[in-house]
Amino acid sequence: MKTIIEPFKIKSVEPIFFTTPEYRVEVLKNADYNPFLIHSNDVLIDLLTDSGTSAMSSDQWAGIMKGDESYAGSPSYFRFKDAVQDITHMPHVIPAHQGRAAEKILFSILGGKGKYFVSNTLFDTTRANIEYSGAEGVDFIGEAGKHPTIPAPFKGNMDVEALKAFIEEKGAANIPLCIITVTNNSGGGQPVSMGNIKAVKAVCHEHHIPLFIDACRFAENSYFIKLREPGYADISVKEIARELFSHADGCTMSAKKDAFANIGGFLAMHDETLAQQCRNLLILTEGFPTYGGLAGRDLEAIAIGLKEVLDEHYLQYRIRSIEYITNKLEAAGVPVMLPAGGHAVYLDAKAFLDHIPVHQYPGQALVGALYLHGGIRAVEIGSLMFGKYNDQHELIPAALELVRLAIPRRVYTQSHIDYVAEVIIEVFEQRKAIKGLTIIEEAPTLRHFTAKLKPIQ
Ligand code: F0G
Repeated sequence: MKTIIEPFKIKSVEPIFFTTPEYRVEVLKNADYNPFLIHSNDVLIDLLTDSGTSAMSSDQWAGIMKGDESYAGSPSYFRFKDAVQDITHMPHVIPAHQGRAAEKILFSILGGKGKYFVSNTLFDTTRANIEYSGAEGVDFIGEAGKHPTIPAPFKGNMDVEALKAFIEEKGAANIPLCIITVTNNSGGGQPVSMGNIKAVKAVCHEHHIPLFIDACRFAENSYFIKLREPGYADISVKEIARELFSHADGCTMSAKKDAFANIGGFLAMHDETLAQQCRNLLILTEGFPTYGGLAGRDLEAIAIGLKEVLDEHYLQYRIRSIEYITNKLEAAGVPVMLPAGGHAVYLDAKAFLDHIPVHQYPGQALVGALYLHGGIRAVEIGSLMFGKYNDQHELIPAALELVRLAIPRRVYTQSHIDYVAEVIIEVFEQRKAIKGLTIIEEAPTLRHFTAKLKPIQ
């Protein structure tokens, strides 16, 4: 087997920014130890997110020039709608400016006090939009997904028995929707099997609970099914994706991930009445249903991206490149989530910094150390992101303390990735010098975006 190469050549480049360690000490302090508050010009390799950070193709840029900016009935909308329907076969396709805008609309209609939304794992904005409506989001991740360093093929799978028990306990009437996130971003970018989707669908169907897919990374998930699930090796990823959506009643999607777009998202569904309610709200908050908060050019970029992402040479390179860095780290003894996920490397910060207790946010401390040592920006997915307080204002920690290094699509080359691995391994060798953090200021919801912290001396 020859080296799996980047399946593209580079037409246009952007500078990256070299800084000194002394300078980065000042930057991190001025950003209150929160990577979201660092200016991107002070970052060398930016792995904060794979969202909206993809390199678009020359076809997508050409599509941008063809974008038709008519307020109503733009041909760009119809190309976008066709591209979404080609994969989902859902009759109602509603554009939105990004994933969370689609979520806000959906949960404003279906949410409310006393309701429960069940999931394998909800992403942070999804959960926040559910909670904002007054409802509660409940995760039922399968057993394999609870153990960061024990490999299993489908660690994103939902616990079907726990789902059944919950429906029994709360009553199906109080559960407006089940949401399966593919791949499971908050749980390590791990895939969900087709078998699990079918099993969840059967339970939902029996209780008349619609099943929606949070489809941000549907192509990466479909490729994992091809690689790992018996019976799918000879089926094209596009057909696998189509089957995946065929089990769902609807989906939300951030096109900033697997559609390679810099902005955009959508809602798609079968239910006509719900779609009409969504469109009515869309007009109020996003825009007319044929543009939904996007420019015509954005719709073109998404339509083209949705086709490109199903190219199996691309997906092979994509999944292999995450596995490549994960393997390097594992070989050096770095505690890393296994197996490799679809869009990011996840470090197990609890094991990496076992001298820092969870209430001192080991994940955030590790994020700071990676920036100081190598100018790399990562994000904490742990108790800063998901922690809650009890009545005594004590931290209720998240299940896992992870640090995610999300790899933007088609942006960095193998030598960038080698550099990232070197930095992580060096930080691991010097880990005992890293100190925990305390929060000095935080917002009531989604606090990780704006929280200010300081090191504990
Ligand atoms: N669902 C999942 C699984 C996501 O990963 C995201 C975004 C969203 C929904 C919301 O989409 O950003 O377009 O509003 N994830 C980004 C990330 C922000 O860094 O993982 P959005």
